[in-house]
Amino acid sequence: MASRLIFAPLAAAWLLAASSQLPAAEPDLNPAILLGEQTFADNCRKCHQLDGYGEEALYPSLHQQRLLSDKTLLIQTLLHGRMGQGPSPTAEPERLMPALDFLSNREIAALIAYISSSWGDEVIVVSEEDVQAARQTNP
Ligand code: HEC
Repeated sequence: MASRLIFAPLAAAWLLAASSQLPAAEPDLNPAILLGEQTFADNCRKCHQLDGYGEEALYPSLHQQRLLSDKTLLIQTLLHGRMGQGPSPTAEPERLMPALDFLSNREIAALIAYISSSWGDEVIVVSEEDVQAARQTNP
């Protein structure tokens, strides 16, 4: 009994000390990154694979700095997907990647935080307002 009484305050002090060592930006971003990880597993994994390397010739790898530093390209690709030229110049354009506009603004922002923080040089923070504005602009 006595040992428990001593241990509890010690544990509390240890937890406080540990949490105060986190970098200042992390507490805000962590929930977004976790949501992004889950959303990626649910919606992107079947093509780009859980590790984001995709499948050669079919689904591009997302481990590309060019992509992971381009906020507009990421928002547009996720919301509107990708169309490509069909087999001949007169053929109908083909859908290469589905539009994911059924995801919420929060989920799209979280996906971008997750993939940029996991595979890019720095985390791209996109606001829900940025995503909302891009819903109306289909390039
Ligand atoms: C049905 C398969 C499929 C799903 C599901 C899918 N993608 Fe894609 N994605 C593709 C294909 C195919 C391309 C390449 C399109 C092209 O060549 O322009 C692509 C392209 C991209 C690109 C641009 C790559 C580049 O080099 O410009 C990004 C970023 C991306 N996907 C992210 C995602 C994310 C994040 C998800 C989940 C929210 C997702 N994709 C879901 C098939 C898919």
